[in-house]
Amino acid sequence: MSPGKATERIEELRKAIRHHDFLYYVRDAPEIEDADYDRLFEELAALEERFPKLITADSPTQRVAGEPLDAFTSVEHTAPMLSLESSQDEAALRRFCERVRKGLTTEAAGGFASRLGWVVDPKLDGLSVELVYEGGVLTRAATRGDGARGEGITENVKTIGSVPLRLREESRPAPDLLALRGEIVLEVEGFAKLNLSLIAQGKDPFANPRNAAAGSVRQLDPTITASRPLEVYVYDVLAVAPAEGPAIPIGIDSQWGILEALRDWGFRVNRLARKAETVDDILAFHRSIEEQRNELDYEIDGIVIKLDDLEGRQALGTTRRHPRWAFAFKFPPRKEETRILEIIPSVGRTGVVTPVAVLRPVEIGGVTVARATLHNREEVARKDVREGDLVRVQRAGDVIPQVVERIDEPDHQRSEPFTMPETCPSCGTPLIERGPFSVCPNSLDCKAQLAGRLTHFGSRQALDIEGLGEETAKLLVDLGLVRHLPELFDLKAEQLIPLEGFAQKSATALVEAIEEASHAELHRFLFGLGIPEVGVAVARDLAQHFGTLENLRQADVEALTAVPGVGPRMTEHIRAFFDQENHRRLLERLLDGRIHLRAPPPPKDPEKQPLKGLKMVFTGAMDRLSRPQAKRIVEAAGAKVVSSVSKATSHVVAGKDPGSKYEKAVNLGIEILDEEAFLRLLDEHSLRS
Ligand code: IVH
Repeated sequence: MSPGKATERIEELRKAIRHHDFLYYVRDAPEIEDADYDRLFEELAALEERFPKLITADSPTQRVAGEPLDAFTSVEHTAPMLSLESSQDEAALRRFCERVRKGLTTEAAGGFASRLGWVVDPKLDGLSVELVYEGGVLTRAATRGDGARGEGITENVKTIGSVPLRLREESRPAPDLLALRGEIVLEVEGFAKLNLSLIAQGKDPFANPRNAAAGSVRQLDPTITASRPLEVYVYDVLAVAPAEGPAIPIGIDSQWGILEALRDWGFRVNRLARKAETVDDILAFHRSIEEQRNELDYEIDGIVIKLDDLEGRQALGTTRRHPRWAFAFKFPPRKEETRILEIIPSVGRTGVVTPVAVLRPVEIGGVTVARATLHNREEVARKDVREGDLVRVQRAGDVIPQVVERIDEPDHQRSEPFTMPETCPSCGTPLIERGPFSVCPNSLDCKAQLAGRLTHFGSRQALDIEGLGEETAKLLVDLGLVRHLPELFDLKAEQLIPLEGFAQKSATALVEAIEEASHAELHRFLFGLGIPEVGVAVARDLAQHFGTLENLRQADVEALTAVPGVGPRMTEHIRAFFDQENHRRLLERLLDGRIHLRAPPPPKDPEKQPLKGLKMVFTGAMDRLSRPQAKRIVEAAGAKVVSSVSKATSHVVAGKDPGSKYEKAVNLGIEILDEEAFLRLLDEHSLRS
């Protein structure tokens, strides 16, 4: 076949495959058999193999073309990914609807109340994702992360069949830029199968489909993601360009219109979405979806109510956390009965000792529950639960399972009531009572507390140290490898290799993850310190406001309360934390070469973004800069760092022993910079400090 003929046939095949994808994923009405679809696909793959120059990034064959990544890149969202105000209370829903109606009647809103209608759809219990299409082609997918920045998971999301690699333009043109929000879910049936196969391989099963979805998407090797039964449902437009007014896509004035456009562009949109006029309509929808809950292919935890009119949304705006025009009306949590096998006291990172019920494992809405918190000794007494009792247990979304109540069994011989130990089960220090709580005061030397602090320090929203979970933290502390938090950064792979559950590779990976995390953004570090009352959002505000840890440490009460969102109680905790002698020592040891804090990214000044518009890929090692350092420098200067080479890549920076990315860059004719050339580029713009 001549290259000309091949080009033609390849285009024909791609078009046909996209059309059948649309029929299958969007319309749920496939017109051809799987085998015929496979034949089209194989023919295309064969032609592309013969004519590799004709391969494009958006070809259906390129879904699993990505190489395994070294790490995920952090990417800034096109627009903040907010969360939702939520409640399972009908009164709260009514208040929300009333607030919106009032908000739209004010003068500022220009009387939009006449257009007070809603779109309702199931609230998917999955993983939020941002999808970005540039020139109609999928160029980026990212996790929600902290709402402002997430992790780049493009290669993995490309493997999901229901995500179009290119927007369908048969019914409406693709905008220059389209940033969307949707939810990645793992089918319930596939979840059960996945867990069986993990258990068969001697691996830990996932606790629920949401964790399984998250775990599947956060795989460095896209072929693993490709093997998992994932789906993406898209429900919102985050940004569009060119835009008519902020966030309003051309010619679309309603949420319903957005859903129609999304379907036209080839996305899977939830078929259960409906319009609603009144609160009664919403309540009826809530009931009907709850009835269908167990039959659905995916997990849901409520419904979402959104104002249909986009201009009205604009007028209402958002709070710092959520839009004022949407509300999640949740289902009551699922409950099941089981027996308490044992009640054990468990010491957390703050020293609070929590009684935990060890349960006969029970499945609650697709998740196996084997432990539940009993909060504190008063709660145990109030519920009067003892070892051996039959109880009702509930699970509510993310929340740890809880024992709701004891089920009376008249003929059952009950055991003795639970009593809190007088000394810490971890370190033996006498416990002190603080209200209903028992607390281990030995915050310096208690191993259980240290393990808890380590786990928190390495958690996703803190330093995000992959491989430092609860088990590992406990192991490191129990074996005396980490006696104080700073010692985490002194760990050597050789110390880990002999430990249970570790091998050469996992040991090296953990040490590398710790090293990478040692270049920490200030707000993550602050959150990781576990200062009481300082959550993710406050940590971010403090970092932004003070810029450096030193400034924050020296801030007095007045300076602290001047930060919006920081109240007197928080101020007290922050001051008390930094004033404590052992915390001072802790910070000293951490900052003594173990941790390198990064200031929050400066507000974007176009003048200072000389690399804006560039898309760079790094491969191979450099002598003078580590990869994380290099990434940070170019990202701060406005460049995007992506993980795989495509036509859209502007530069490939190739260090020593570059991998297949280098070859791909050569094939595509992309500019390649060696270390010297890269440093020259930085110097030209005075980016090296
Ligand atoms: S609308 C706030 N619709 O629920 C922006 N969100 O608990 C508008 N979610 O992180 C969101 N299903 O990702 C919307 N049908 C649905 C949803 C949904 C799940 C997620 C969303 C958010 C979380 C809030």
